[in-house]
Amino acid sequence: MRQKRQKARLPARTAMAAWAGMALCLPLLVSPALADAAAVARGEKVVEEWCRDCHVREGQKLTADMAPPYSAIVAIEGRDRAWFEAFLQADHFPMTTFRLFDHEKADVVEWLLDLQKRAK
Ligand code: HEC
Repeated sequence: MRQKRQKARLPARTAMAAWAGMALCLPLLVSPALADAAAVARGEKVVEEWCRDCHVREGQKLTADMAPPYSAIVAIEGRDRAWFEAFLQADHFPMTTFRLFDHEKADVVEWLLDLQKRAK
């Protein structure tokens, strides 16, 4: 009797777990664009936290002690995904403590490419 009850309950729980898993994955499967948007948003946060000490905001006046806005950087010929990825893997000399995690670098690349796309 006891065994029977356990057996009956297990599949129901498994099914529920499967449904929960599917519900979580569904947005990602249905729309890769959603995942991209999340990466862009995370990239923006990284830039806000680590890059704004030097890089002026778009439209802000560039002074001698500040670095160019990203709108100018992404507008330069040849600035594609490969270029940004290589740039972020290398040392960024003015920024002596330039140490982002790899997943942060990947998100910053998504943000830069999104900025480039929006400027076109
Ligand atoms: C300490 C100041 C400083 C910080 C912080 C900083 N940068 Fe820069 N960055 C500069 C300066 C100055 C330049 C322009 C001169 C140069 O290219 O080295 C520059 C240029 C760049 C360029 C263009 C390089 C080129 O060759 O056109 C990119 C891309 C860039 N920075 C990305 C970033 C990102 C992403 C962050 C944050 C994770 C960041 N920077 C943080 C100072 C800084």
